[in-house]
Formats: sequence, C-alpha cells, structure tokens
Amino acid sequence: MKALVYHGDHNIALEEKAKPVIEKTTDAIVKVVKTTICGTDSGIYKGKNPYMRDGITLGHEGVGIIEEVGDSVSQFKVGDKVIISCITSCGSCEYCKKQLYSHCKDGGWILGHMIDGVQAEYVRIPHADNSLYKIPDSIDDEVAVMISDILPTGHEIGVQYGEVKPGDAIAIVGAGPIGISVLLTAQFYSPAIIVVIDLDENRLEMAKQLGATHTLKPSDNLQEELAEIVGEEGVDVAIEAVGIPQTWDVCQKIVKPGGNIANVGVHGKKVDFEIQDLWIKNLTITTGLVNTNTIPMLMKAVSTNKLPVNKLITHHFKLSEMEKAYEVFLNASKEKAMKLIIDVD
Ligand SMILES: NC(=O)c1ccc[n+]([C@@H]2O[C@H](COP(=O)([O-])OP(=O)(O)OC[C@H]3O[C@@H](n4cnc5c(N)ncnc54)[C@H](O)[C@@H]3O)[C@@H](O)[C@H]2O)c1
Ligand SMILES: [Zn+2]
Ligand SMILES: [Zn+2]
Repeated sequence: MKALVYHGDHNIALEEKAKPVIEKTTDAIVKVVKTTICGTDSGIYKGKNPYMRDGITLGHEGVGIIEEVGDSVSQFKVGDKVIISCITSCGSCEYCKKQLYSHCKDGGWILGHMIDGVQAEYVRIPHADNSLYKIPDSIDDEVAVMISDILPTGHEIGVQYGEVKPGDAIAIVGAGPIGISVLLTAQFYSPAIIVVIDLDENRLEMAKQLGATHTLKPSDNLQEELAEIVGEEGVDVAIEAVGIPQTWDVCQKIVKPGGNIANVGVHGKKVDFEIQDLWIKNLTITTGLVNTNTIPMLMKAVSTNKLPVNKLITHHFKLSEMEKAYEVFLNASKEKAMKLIIDVD
C-alpha cells in the first residue's frame, strides 16, 4: 500500500509499505477513505519532534471503513464507517477512567508519532473500541475528518480549559485550523467579543466570516489596538493557538485579572513566563493535549449543520499527490490553504 513516510526533518516521501495486520486482539485495521494534514505534521516536518523514529507513517486524522477487527473488538464490525480519533485510548487505565485519554498508559497521541499513522491506504488502530467513533449518515465524511483532532482540540483545550463564558471578551491568537476550531466552538458559549489575531489576511477574513467580532494583526501596537476593543485591562480569556514564544507572550500580556490563558499550541522551544507581573493577577493557566472526550458531543453538534465546518476545507488532493499536498500546506499563506482533504480511494 502507499503511505507518507517520515525520515527525519524536511525528509518525507510517499512510499510503498506493507499493509498493517492485527497485532493484538483489541486492534482494528481501517481502510482510510479520507485524511488530512495537521499543523502538528508541519511541526514534525520542520523538526519539532526530533525523537521520532525514521520510517513512521505520518497522520493522525481521518475517516475510514473497518476492514478487519481483532477478536476482542466488540463495538465495531467489518464495513462500519468510522472517525479515527487522533488519540488512542484503552478506556480502562487510571487516566482513561478520568477521561484524560491523551495520557492513556497504552495510547495517547501515538498515531503518526510513535506508530504508523493515517496518511496511508490502511492503518492499524489499537484499542479500537475506545479510539474509533461510528459515523452516522447525517455527517458528511469531510466534515467528519475535522472531528478527529481540530474541533475537539479547539473545543477542549481552547474553549473548555479557557472557561469561555457568556458575555466574555476572548482573544484567539492564531487563525489556523486550530484557532478557527476554537472560534467555531467558542460560540457554543456565547462570548460577547471574539478577537482573532494572525499575520495572515486570508485567515483573518475567514475568521470574520465564521464569527470573529474583530481581527487584528500582531504589531508593536497590538495591546493598544486591543484595548480599544476590550478595554485597558484586557480579555477574559486568551487562547494561544500557534505554539511559538511570540504568541505565548501576547497571551500573557493581554489577559485581565481573574482571566484564563489556555495554551493550545505545541511548543518546540521554551518561553519566558512573566511570573513577576502575573503572580498578582489570579489567573488560570492551562495546557494540554486534546483528549477527544468531546467527540460524541461534537458529532451531535455538526450533524445539525449549524457549525459551518465545511468552510475550513480549501483544497482536495489524492493520496498519490500527498507530497504536493504537504507543499501546499507548508505554504498555507501563499496558497490560501486552511484544511486539505486527501482522498484515499
Ligand atoms: N494541544 C493539542 O492537543 C494540539 C492539537 C493539535 C494541534 N495543536 C497545535 O496547535 C497549533 C496550531 O495548529 P494549526 O494546525 O492551526 O497550525 P497552523 O500552522 O496552520 O496555524 C498557525 C497560525 O498561526 C499564525 N501565526 C504565526 N505566527 C504568528 C504570530 N506571531 N502572531 C499571530 N499569528 C501567528 C499563522 O499565520 C497561522 O495562521 C500548532 O502548534 C499545533 O501543533 C495542538
Ligand atoms: Zn492534528
Ligand atoms: Zn488508557
């Protein structure tokens, strides 16, 4: 089968690989129908995860059809169409019992990271019963791909951890697929002001169409410009959705006393934590890897078609064009790309 394989930073290739087989009775083999590329994959490409093993198939988001199940899989049968969660979880360890699936003792973010991922014709999913979700007919396959990672990440690590409440003024720093997912799911909780901050005009334009009340570009005057919108003290919730020191810095400057900073970005470098200014502010600062525990709720939300998730999809490619797809995604600003759909058939 064909798979997009990692060989170290700036070194990926579409290659022939053996089709995966059932290794444990809790596994399922899924025939991938649609997959996509994540900002995290660009991070891997750019060298943020140098410990990764040469030869791993990338990808942790997708939709597929069950091809084979191990003897202990009870919730799925051959032919079921499923969302593949970016997080694999056993459902029974200490962390899974707290719904902290991202820290599952026999799972977590392993797909396209520690074990072969979804950017391939077939993928082996460990702990299939707890790591896959059956797709009802009411959800379009391409919309379903957005539920593997980006929507739950934005919702759980941005909006829920940030404790967005009715009437809040919030700022989302970063308008990539994750920032936009924060924007969409924040609206479940009716914040009054949503300021989206990014360098990319196209992405800010999309943010406006999808519910941002204001957009700003980062500059030396950012704090003054923001103050004109939300007042001198800043925002109730600052959500970091980029993963670089500069954007962390923005978040710690713009949050008001009693507020929340929710860090969503994956950081490859340390940041300065301005504790000498922040200790007095009674802040709640959260970090985390998505648990995907809200996938069932998000599936209900998208099936009413009230969440315009399909607006995020800007490009389509075939698996055979995967290298080209990476090129486009890595030049997202120039290519006006947000989320790409890779058709595997
Ligand atoms: N915590 C989690 O569980 C989790 C899950 C998935 C992704 N992520 C991470 O979330 C982050 C965002 O993912 P994405 O797919 O949206 O990435 P992306 O690269 O598509 O988007 C990042 C956005 O940040 C903008 N940006 C860059 N520098 C900026 C600056 N100085 N100020 C403002 N905006 C700036 C870019 O223009 C871009 O629009 C990544 O770090 C990714 O690894 C975290
Ligand atoms: Zn991802
Ligand atoms: Zn577990």
